[in-house]
Amino acid sequence: MRISFSAPSAKLTGAVAVAVMEGGTLCATATKLDEATDGALSRAVETSPRFTGKKGQILEILAPVGLQVSRVLLFGIGKPADYGELDQENNGGELFARIAATGEANAIFCLDALEGATADPQRRAARMAFGALLRSYRFDKYRTKEKADSKPSLKSLTVMVPKPAQARAAFAEAESIAEGVFTARDVISEPANVIYPQSFVAEAKKLEKLGVKIDVLGEKEMQKLGMGALLGVGQGSVRESRLLLMRWDGARKSGKGKAKAAQPIAIVGKGVTFDTGGISIKPAAGMEDMKWDMGGAGVVLGLMKALAGRKAKVNAVGVCGLVENMPDGNAQRPGDIVTSMSGQTIEVLNTDAEGRLVLADALWYTQKTYKPRAIIDLATLTGAIIVALGKVNAGLFSNNDELAERLAVAGKAVGEPVWRMPLGEDYDKQIDSDAADMKNIGNRWGGSITAAQFLQRFIQDGTAWAHLDIAGVTWTDKDKPTVRKGASAFGVRLLDRLVAQHYEG
Ligand code: BES
Ligand code: MN
Ligand code: ZN
Repeated sequence: MRISFSAPSAKLTGAVAVAVMEGGTLCATATKLDEATDGALSRAVETSPRFTGKKGQILEILAPVGLQVSRVLLFGIGKPADYGELDQENNGGELFARIAATGEANAIFCLDALEGATADPQRRAARMAFGALLRSYRFDKYRTKEKADSKPSLKSLTVMVPKPAQARAAFAEAESIAEGVFTARDVISEPANVIYPQSFVAEAKKLEKLGVKIDVLGEKEMQKLGMGALLGVGQGSVRESRLLLMRWDGARKSGKGKAKAAQPIAIVGKGVTFDTGGISIKPAAGMEDMKWDMGGAGVVLGLMKALAGRKAKVNAVGVCGLVENMPDGNAQRPGDIVTSMSGQTIEVLNTDAEGRLVLADALWYTQKTYKPRAIIDLATLTGAIIVALGKVNAGLFSNNDELAERLAVAGKAVGEPVWRMPLGEDYDKQIDSDAADMKNIGNRWGGSITAAQFLQRFIQDGTAWAHLDIAGVTWTDKDKPTVRKGASAFGVRLLDRLVAQHYEG
């Protein structure tokens, strides 16, 4: 879909969307269309008692007499004073979906200045276009026989605003973020016969042309570094494990606070390209979901693309621990004891608690190598976080209140909410082992917390760290305004926002 911005024009064709405020008040363009149609719009509102102009409502009028358009979509925005960024994105996404479902080829959103509104039409235009773009994502490359009547038909979206150049400029940045989101959705959606450690690395190499530096550690190098925890997980797979290192050095080289800005922020992702559970094998039902057990790594990749795409003024490193967890004659056994790069030993009591093993070495390596200002990991780590928080919030664990608060604020702003969970000594005790420094599972209770405690044992004193357990939010089973069902890329927008608000400049 081609997205463009233009000045308001009287010549409207295709599907046209105009805003209605709470109480049914039409915006300026809607009023003009109402006049041109001898009152068709206001009549439609009057005869639809449940359409009140509330946020998210849409009322569709087909082929109104007096206009060349195929349909007019009245979309509710509520009160202009509390019509926020997310509402605008959601409006854009929902309008896209409604129009796309009709088979229409061209859509126009008409935006006017609104009295008392939180943003001018240009900024709202960029947000609505961003929402529509995010919703337009499809992963359909393997559907070779899709029927013509369900194929995407919408070819162009034009957003009409008084100052189109301003809207275009505001949209450019959003577009880079969307590209990062799409890359994350792509790799997360791909099945495990297509995306495995080596092919994931090949995807990452595509970022080199954006200026991202890519380094890769193979199994031999990781052995030399003593990464027994990560390597143990991959040892049952015919696919070799990899540690992927991505760098974006965008911070200004001079100026105030440059020493601190030179220190990178580090983002680490769990990249289990398929999680069978290993010898502690998972039940067959639903095991296919474990193709997205590399959701954390996918988000790290997408984030790096977004940061590089919009030339973020930050130094950032993205690290992905890439392994496949398989049962095999050479697979790790329950009871095996492995030595991590940190020197700490781990008794592997359940080979299905593998994500923390991968992250243990990835986190340690990242701190040693880059001395980051802050380190944030993302992982589809536990089923227990889904029990605790459902599929709405990601679990947030942190040793640093400021970082936790920043993540919570950023998440809320972009519609990727996180909910802070506790850490503490009494939980930590539960992973003490009789045979080694620790074991990789706790008891029956608080499974996402003991998993986080495990990770914390690989965080050095004084390093600001946050862990996002995204098991419940990486994949969505129903359509949402800006996320079609499937891979969400939850985390790309959140971390991009965090960087923009606190680590750039
Ligand atoms: N990848 C899974 C967690 C998961 C479950 C992600 C469901 C997404 C949806 C993880 O590796 C795992 O298997 N965790 C176990 C840990 C247990 C063995 C302590 C779990 O949550 O059951
Ligand atoms: Mn597992
Ligand atoms: Zn897993």
